[in-house]
Amino acid sequence: MCGIIGYIGPREAANVGIGCLRRLEYRGYDSCGGAVIHDGRMEIRKGAGKIDEINRELKLDSMKGNIGIFHTRWATHGNVSRENAHPHCDDNEKFSIVHNGIIENYSYLKEQLAKKGHAFSSETDTEVIVHLIADYYNGNLKDAVLRALNDLEGSYAICVISSYEPDVIIAAKNESQLVIGLGNGENFIASDIPAILSETKDFIIMENREVAVVSRDYAEFCNLEGTVIQKKIQRTELDAASAEKGLYEHFMLKEIHEQPRAVEDAISNRISEGRVILEGEFPLSANDIKRIIVVACGTSWHAGLVGEFMLEEIARIPTEVEYASEFRYRNPVIEDGTLVIAISQSGETADTLAALREARKKGAKILGIVNSIGSSIAREADYVLYTHAGPEIGVASTKAFTSQLAVLYLLTVYIGDKKGLLPQQQVQNRIRDIRKLPLQMQKVLGKSEAIRKIAEKYSGKNNALYLGRGINYPIALEGALKLKEVSYIHAEGYPAAEMKHGPIALIDEHMPVFFIATKDERTYSKIMGNIEEVKARNGEVIAIASEDDEDIGKKAHIVINIPRSSYILTPLLAVIPLQLLAYHTATLRGCDVDKPRNLAKAVVVE
Ligand code: F6R
Repeated sequence: MCGIIGYIGPREAANVGIGCLRRLEYRGYDSCGGAVIHDGRMEIRKGAGKIDEINRELKLDSMKGNIGIFHTRWATHGNVSRENAHPHCDDNEKFSIVHNGIIENYSYLKEQLAKKGHAFSSETDTEVIVHLIADYYNGNLKDAVLRALNDLEGSYAICVISSYEPDVIIAAKNESQLVIGLGNGENFIASDIPAILSETKDFIIMENREVAVVSRDYAEFCNLEGTVIQKKIQRTELDAASAEKGLYEHFMLKEIHEQPRAVEDAISNRISEGRVILEGEFPLSANDIKRIIVVACGTSWHAGLVGEFMLEEIARIPTEVEYASEFRYRNPVIEDGTLVIAISQSGETADTLAALREARKKGAKILGIVNSIGSSIAREADYVLYTHAGPEIGVASTKAFTSQLAVLYLLTVYIGDKKGLLPQQQVQNRIRDIRKLPLQMQKVLGKSEAIRKIAEKYSGKNNALYLGRGINYPIALEGALKLKEVSYIHAEGYPAAEMKHGPIALIDEHMPVFFIATKDERTYSKIMGNIEEVKARNGEVIAIASEDDEDIGKKAHIVINIPRSSYILTPLLAVIPLQLLAYHTATLRGCDVDKPRNLAKAVVVE
């Protein structure tokens, strides 16, 4: 999705701004540009394409001026073209704007402005905002922006500059994320914290319907009525390196390898003296939770499915998992005692946020399981359990997923313990099991090269099937999602028993079938039966299996071993070979793994 950077200070704004803008590339975009003011004159350079291409052609980062706004666009209104790229400006090039979000009443506003003689040069909804500002300008940029914002319906994060007032940037936010970074004699504006971590650690997070006036030395805030608001400065502990690739070729690979650390960070401060301690973060009484509904999208939804299994198995709470996008448009029944858990890496996914609000309206308590600190879901939920995975830059979610699972596991053990369902010894055993995980994960990561060789064998295929049962059925879904999104190979995930009800028709000698076939009392023998069914139809079987399973080699064509863990934790290990497989397959096919086509890291529009 779109990315915004603003800079005002003593340095060349374009040089600083384009550097920071590169750190927003992971969000997905199709065009980019920037506007600076120099010697009282606005200069705008922009184009359709990646930052490097446009920079080679237009020297974006060499524009002169100490104030500037910069943007990566992910097309919503209007195709991918130079005209539709941001920044947009008014007829006289006195004002320019960058915008994330969608203005829902833009057609009406455009018509009104056109009647007044405004000429539009793009098909975007954004352009109406800058024309409105120019129309309202009467010697005070902040006032003109406030008046314009009061006419808008929809979502926005914006930065506006004007050559009439070259010493301020006006920023505003409604729904789309925006933060102000505070420097020494210079200030920054960005769509997210990691983009400007190299510049500052002090941030002010903007809330909905807030406006900021940002100069070199200060940032002042007000609401849409113009009433002054005092904001808190927050200091982040994240370091700039956490948002860099380091020695890895891609963020996705780096983040896959960060999983042992991410799980460690998710659990370490929440375990004490043989117990899970969540009282501070989640003070709701466990006995008051009668039912749980998980709302999420994509990979986070898969985490919810694993969570459902854990919560029902150990905490004995009826749990349903809903696509946030479906939940929000139904009329869901929320009874007393319903806890809604919103799971999200970014904390900004529009559907998940809307589902949370729908649930809140109906009286549910909301728990957010969120990675991005200070994000909208984290702020709007009643309680939040951060996953502490650190910035996830690769578009395909990897470490965020396993850290979500780790948090769901802790939550489950915590509730089970509080409800008196788990004797103390069992609580301790469960804690011991998860403490072992980081090392076990490390062991699986050691198989990366072997998995690359397996990927070589299958990277030319057009289809793949992923099958699992019980708690590993969501891992089949996740394996298929990872493969399709980064390698563009069509892949389907199914509960293994469902194969007979349709997908078995697809199986022939060209179909690789990935089984999660780890040893457990409940489903192992059934999975073995499913493997035989695939082989009988000449399908190629690749099995993720327990390392002490001596028989599986006789059944599967290829076996990838993972260490034995408690059944309920196998998803955290079984998913790693599937992530690596997707990664290697995609790189072998020459795909841009960190920025797969058409995808955005945070889906902040419906
Ligand atoms: C897949 C992926 C997406 C996200 C989904 C939800 O690898 O990353 O499916 O999981 O868009 O995003 P969050 O978790 O940020 O709400």
